[in-house]
Amino acid sequence: MLVSGAGTNLQALLDACADPAYGAEVVAVGADRDGIEGLARAERAGIPTFVHRVSDFATREEWDAAMAQACADHDPDLVVSAGFMKLAGPAFLGRFGGRYLNTHPALLPAFPGMHGAADALAYGVKVAGATLFVVDPGVDTGPIVAQAAVPVEDDDTVETLHERIKVAERTMLVATVGRLAREGFAVEGRRVRIGS
Ligand code: GAR
Repeated sequence: MLVSGAGTNLQALLDACADPAYGAEVVAVGADRDGIEGLARAERAGIPTFVHRVSDFATREEWDAAMAQACADHDPDLVVSAGFMKLAGPAFLGRFGGRYLNTHPALLPAFPGMHGAADALAYGVKVAGATLFVVDPGVDTGPIVAQAAVPVEDDDTVETLHERIKVAERTMLVATVGRLAREGFAVEGRRVRIGS
């Protein structure tokens, strides 16, 4: 699992994984920065962590290759980004393409990028939400695995809307990752099918 911040999605998965019937385990947590609550959550749960900061590498490509190697060292079946605020590059996608998922706080293809919830609120949509997708080389453009919708209230701020989205996002992420682990999945063009 890859994080850059609070790690509440990570925590939801860690809590779900405590039940063996859930069918998945978090084997490691990686980050692009130190001192974040996401890493502290992993450490409290006894999960191995690694940090590679872009600024510690001469090039973005070298950082990307180091992230790919660090993930590969833990031999995951699936890599999940939740609030990981970096784009994976060719080395990472070469290794994990098709099994690297990201969760985004908007109903894609609307409002890709760094500020999904804020952009949705500014646009004035009445339904917002979160999207779990298979990462491809674009920005939030990959095949969609699952989505969860929430209403936008008239008095919402970015913070209240994003928090409502995150509640639905965590439930969607936990339910979907569990199904992917237990039932498998296939990506056929833009369509993602869970189970056989
Ligand atoms: C989540 O809402 C996630 O969708 C978003 O950051 C939040 C992380 O929360 N990701 C992006 O905006 C990526 N573009 P968390 O750290 O509490 O899990």
